[in-house]
Amino acid sequence: MSIAEKFVSMEYGPAPEDPKEAQAWLERHSRKFNHFIGGHWLAPAAGEYFDTIDPSNGEKLASVAQGSSADIDAAVLAARAASPKWSALTPHVRARYLYNLARLVQKHSRLLAVLETMDNGKPIRESRDIDIPLVARHFYYHAGWAQLLGQEFPDYEPYGVVGQIIPWNFPLLMLAWKIAPALATGNTVVLKPAEFTPLTALAFAGLCQEAGIPAGVVNIVTGDGSTGESLVKNSEIDKIAFTGSTEVGRAIRGATAASHKRLSLELGGKSPFIVFDDADLDGAVEGLVDGIWFNQGQVCCAGSRLLMQESIAEVLISKIRDRMNTLRLGPPLDKAIDVGAIVARVQLERIQRMVAQGVADGATCWQPQITLPSRGFYFPPTILSNVHPTSIVAQQEIFGPVLAAMTFRTPREAVELANNTVYGLASCVWSESINVALHVAAQLKAGVVWVNCTNLFDAACGFGGYRESGYGREGGREGLLEYMEPKWFKHAPKLAAARPTVPPSQDPADSGTPSIDRTVKLYIGGKQARPDSGYSMEVRSPDGALLGEASLGNRKDIRNAVEAARKAESWPKATAHNRAQVLYYCAENLAVRQNEIASRLASAVGEQQAKREVASGIERIFSYAAWADKFDGAVHNPPFRNIAIAMNEPVGTVGVICPSETPLLGFLSLVLPLIAVGNTVIAVPSEKFPLIASDLYQLFDTSDLPGGAVNIVTGYVSQLLKPLAEHDDVDAIWCYGDEATVTSAKAMSTGNLKQVWTNEGRTIDWFDSKVAEGRWFLEHATQVKNIWVPYGE
Ligand code: NAI
Repeated sequence: MSIAEKFVSMEYGPAPEDPKEAQAWLERHSRKFNHFIGGHWLAPAAGEYFDTIDPSNGEKLASVAQGSSADIDAAVLAARAASPKWSALTPHVRARYLYNLARLVQKHSRLLAVLETMDNGKPIRESRDIDIPLVARHFYYHAGWAQLLGQEFPDYEPYGVVGQIIPWNFPLLMLAWKIAPALATGNTVVLKPAEFTPLTALAFAGLCQEAGIPAGVVNIVTGDGSTGESLVKNSEIDKIAFTGSTEVGRAIRGATAASHKRLSLELGGKSPFIVFDDADLDGAVEGLVDGIWFNQGQVCCAGSRLLMQESIAEVLISKIRDRMNTLRLGPPLDKAIDVGAIVARVQLERIQRMVAQGVADGATCWQPQITLPSRGFYFPPTILSNVHPTSIVAQQEIFGPVLAAMTFRTPREAVELANNTVYGLASCVWSESINVALHVAAQLKAGVVWVNCTNLFDAACGFGGYRESGYGREGGREGLLEYMEPKWFKHAPKLAAARPTVPPSQDPADSGTPSIDRTVKLYIGGKQARPDSGYSMEVRSPDGALLGEASLGNRKDIRNAVEAARKAESWPKATAHNRAQVLYYCAENLAVRQNEIASRLASAVGEQQAKREVASGIERIFSYAAWADKFDGAVHNPPFRNIAIAMNEPVGTVGVICPSETPLLGFLSLVLPLIAVGNTVIAVPSEKFPLIASDLYQLFDTSDLPGGAVNIVTGYVSQLLKPLAEHDDVDAIWCYGDEATVTSAKAMSTGNLKQVWTNEGRTIDWFDSKVAEGRWFLEHATQVKNIWVPYGE
């Protein structure tokens, strides 16, 4: 082709990145890698290895150790041994280590980028310009936190040994997201990279040696899902941090239920990309290129559902097709390539299967005329239009370069469609009207909303999901809290196991219980309600005297209470000032009735405790009235022309199992932080003295709390926990009880992956305001949504 012809076609020539250094690195290791355990390279106990291949051509890159439970045990042992010294280092010393890691990532950035592309198939342009710079940024940012830890979190301690399991889509970046905050806060780690992409994690192990990270602080054990399973099951692990599929996340929730392992899950998504008719359409199309074709669409927060306002749908689809025609697909080491290879044959086949299914469901499939390379795993950029919102391709994660397009008419419909998914990881809103964009952003159930931009990440801005996209955040201040807990809590003694409470017989003939009319009723939707069962439970004093009866709530009452809580939309929408006013009013009303309530409570807990509970209760309500308009979010300044508005949003509808021993104060200590920030609640009050329910609902009734904001269902925890924890419309469970109850709460909550917060069977001194109220509670009552807004011309 002559130069003149080139000027006409403007076709790119090949611009291959030289893989020489990466190949030499592989050769130096004889293309065979062992585990990195306790600062040494150890051969796998079972002697097994697997191949990692280059998806751009299907060729083997190296063989890598397959980890067994023996290897995991050895790594956990090494991490445990290293833990006391590492956690006792001064923040400054740990900061230096993290800083060294950041510098080394930068120093070896080209090698890391090339290795990443060879192992994963992503375009070198992305690994070089996005993945690796973000890895370095993460270590710098957390070096900073390590330095400030003593000042900012003086009352916190690391968990200890953390097990971390990461996926293959951003191998080194996910490693950085996991390891940097864990090390900064003083934990030691055992990390298992994904089986398709272990190489950069092994290169990182080398950087740890170079940085002088003490032996055992970072351990890398390679292997497949079974290695991950061994890590999850290891009894010496204090926390599991997982990124990957929702299916495996759910299995991990189940597998850790009976332990005290803390859990953070960053799972799948089906993120909406909403374009309004007043959007800059060309800008939106460029955003979409990053939204769905970045990393071949193998991105948990990919904008895989395009929602277009009907009036611009035709013109937008036409612009998207034009742009798709210019996308360049090919060998990912070519610097002028937009779309590289799919990570593995099995993933490619999964994408092919799902697209075929979408077409069978009635979608129209369009792909540009691209010749795929003859070797390797490639899938062309694809758009499916006329997609029905219930179709598999609109609901399930395809994890490939496939966009499913739908239309909407009004902003309200856009929000409904956007939220019509079990996921809630990210979303994009395109509109030149900042009012419309922010109005919609506030209503989206997603941890991240990008306004007029896409796929921006920064270590200072927490990332993580709502709903079945998981819980916990990575990055930001909130991300640190995933790796630490208050010292007092860590060392709190165990609660004695509750005496088994035996539900009465369901046969009225032999129950001998008094008439329902003499019992304290349930409180649902702002009204007193008779229990569905028509039964009551006797409430007795410690010396056995009958104090009264409380309604015996059941599954149906829980269902009604959840429905009422869901309908109480005015409470989450109320202003913080309004919520504060209602809470102050509650305090005022409790003060008016303090003697009367204390004397009733005294029959169950004694006069002295009863008086203290009421007095501390009034103070606690005051505290949360004060917090209601002060638990603000933040505005981050990431290194782009953007602000990221971090909003503390309520988790939603929360089920609360209240502690037994302090019937009034325990209830208030858990329910108040939740409602102070706008959650709605279904609370099961103390089993020991459920009669407190009547005092509480009189309090709420007389204090202008809207009906449904707090619902109270009395009964046996053994009967009420299950319907509450298994209910798909409940977003979180707070369960404060003995070990067995807490374990059940976790195990029963796996269905919709609701957030579970418990006392881990430990004793809480509810009278001590230093431990029993404040930020720690509010942080669990909220989830951070980051709304990214660009500025400038
Ligand atoms: P996966 O969830 O199976 O793998 C992620 C990590 O978990 C890997 O390191 C794997 O070895 C490990 N793992 C697998 N089973 C495990 C178990 N039982 N216990 C502990 N660890 C286990 O994801 P996979 O199979 O690689 O991809 C399947 C689908 O999952 C993708 O098509 C995509 O839809 C989704 N996915 C989502 C990701 C995200 O970032 N949200 C990342 C990777 C996959």
